[in-house]
Amino acid sequence: MPSLDARLEAALALIHAEVHADIGSDHAALPVELVRRGRVRRAVVVELTPGPLDVARQAVARAGLAGHIDVRAGNGFAPLAPGEVHSASITGMGARTILGILRRAGEEVPPALVLQPNDSAPLLRRWAGEAGFHVTAERLAAGFWNYAVLRFERRPGPDPAYTDLPLAAALEYGPHLLRAADPLLLAQVHADIAHLTPLAAPGRPTQDALETARTALSWLTDPENKKPALRGR
Ligand SMILES: C[S@@+](CC[C@H](N)C(=O)[O-])C[C@H]1O[C@@H](n2cnc3c(N)ncnc32)[C@H](O)[C@@H]1O
Repeated sequence: MPSLDARLEAALALIHAEVHADIGSDHAALPVELVRRGRVRRAVVVELTPGPLDVARQAVARAGLAGHIDVRAGNGFAPLAPGEVHSASITGMGARTILGILRRAGEEVPPALVLQPNDSAPLLRRWAGEAGFHVTAERLAAGFWNYAVLRFERRPGPDPAYTDLPLAAALEYGPHLLRAADPLLLAQVHADIAHLTPLAAPGRPTQDALETARTALSWLTDPENKKPALRGR
């Protein structure tokens, strides 16, 4: 029996750190598996709400990992000391909630992040550009929706992930997902075009969204575009 669902498995695959924080952990399934599989040496769980906090404490105790996973009550990054963790994950929340947590943390955000918003991943890609992070990996995980899972790392200068890509489409659908021509992404773009076509009209926001989806489709289906994830296999 897999102990993580597809979206948390995708998040786990993007995490490798000495000390990692999982913010808003609830059941603590992700940090427990990160330690079990040796992807992090130590983890800190932060949970705001008393019920999920108890659930997390019980899960960590049941896994026999209390010596490796510290469970703390609190809001976002506030219970962490500056520089205490090398990376952090925030999963299973709306993008605006995740953005609020990141913005309140300011400079205390660790240098690597793995974020899985339940909606509006483009908001996080835009935040990263403003906050000095590059998007270094992306996955799409099938579930109730297609969940985007994004890894960001603090790096100087413009993000090379966007080089030679149509910017609006890359921000919307993900630069790495576009380059990889992820099959789930292709299905998503087709679904967006089908949904937006009857709603779009000049001057409406849906018109811009439709044009972005069409640009993404052109890019995905143009044989001239390189698909590094598919080539060389
Ligand atoms: C929907 S659950 C997601 C649980 C888990 N991360 C996952 O992906 O399955 C969101 C959890 O985040 C917690 N949470 C929300 N805002 C938070 C914040 N600012 N700081 C810490 N925890 C927070 C909630 O109490 C809840 O337990």
